[in-house]
Amino acid sequence: MGWLKVIAKLLLGLVAVLALAIGLLVWQGHRLAGKRWDIAIPARAPAATIDLAEGARIAQIRGCTGCHAKDLGGEVLAETPIGDLVPPNLTTGKGGVTAGYADADWERSIRHGVSPKGRALILMPSDDNTRVSEADFAQLLAYLKSVPAVDRALPPTRLTPLGYALLGAGQLPLLAVERIDHSLQPAAPTVAADAAYGAYLAHTCSGCHGNNFAGGPIPGMPPGAPPAANLTPAGRLPQWTLGQFGTAVRTGARPDGTRMDEHFMPWPAFAAMTDIEVEALYRHFGSLPKAERRN
Ligand code: HEC
Ligand code: HEC
Repeated sequence: MGWLKVIAKLLLGLVAVLALAIGLLVWQGHRLAGKRWDIAIPARAPAATIDLAEGARIAQIRGCTGCHAKDLGGEVLAETPIGDLVPPNLTTGKGGVTAGYADADWERSIRHGVSPKGRALILMPSDDNTRVSEADFAQLLAYLKSVPAVDRALPPTRLTPLGYALLGAGQLPLLAVERIDHSLQPAAPTVAADAAYGAYLAHTCSGCHGNNFAGGPIPGMPPGAPPAANLTPAGRLPQWTLGQFGTAVRTGARPDGTRMDEHFMPWPAFAAMTDIEVEALYRHFGSLPKAERRN
């Protein structure tokens, strides 16, 4: 019966090695999430004109209200096996996190993915906003600072050991700060119904649809979630008119009558897009090289 003992020993050894490997991954995840980032923010000239309604619209189409709640008082977005994802209360009310914010703190969070204390923000898609134009950023900031205080205490965003292990293994792209080129300057787009302006707006779409917009499974989403669609001409968009594209993006209704679930494709945010923005996006996607969807 000696061989049974040998197998048992081998198995025990294997379990020990696995436990050590997982422990190392968890440790590596903590190390990544715990790293301090020191990001200098240049002084910005105050905006010439402030349009709070436009700022509110930008907060909507950039997804802020989709995650931080309509009143920006924050909400528990998801409690998952990888952790609790809780976009915080952005107002100055009880439980709000922005009472002591300077403009540079807002900018560090929104464009660079770093909290005022230099901590990497989890899930917050700041890489979509790094190149937001000065004009758009000024309106957004003015609006954020004008939002009425909401009293709402929420638990913090927190990863589980599994979340840390996956983060450590490089399997969870939750820290935008690592992806961002912090030397990038804001874009200076011209508002027009053309592909160039569409490329500027499409930063908001690339986090899910991919940098080449060919779609595929969205990293970090639960199994069974629909993959992001292919928006290049290899997908269905060439068969859609501009009007049909606009309806899909703003209401989630596709020309074939199917509806997109707003939990996966956040069309309520895009409902506030202007006709110029919708046409610019349509032209941008139409101008891309064909690319196959990742599987
Ligand atoms: C996909 C969901 C999502 C979207 C979209 C989003 N956020 Fe966040 N945001 C988060 C989460 C989650 C956190 C908390 C991260 C943490 O504590 O590690 C956060 C943190 C922040 C913070 C830092 C608060 C602090 O702790 O000091 C600010 C400021 C912020 N978001 C502003 C915005 C603005 C403005 C927008 C729109 C341009 C936006 N967010 C869009 C999820 C999101
Ligand atoms: C949070 C992730 C997410 C973001 C951000 C996002 N999408 Fe999507 N999108 C999806 C998913 C997932 C689908 C597939 C939905 C389905 O099959 O039910 C989709 C589908 C679509 C479709 C349908 C295409 C087809 O062939 O059926 C269009 C059009 C679209 N998205 C446009 C956009 C645009 C434009 C933006 C940016 C302004 C954007 N999406 C941002 C996740 C996202």
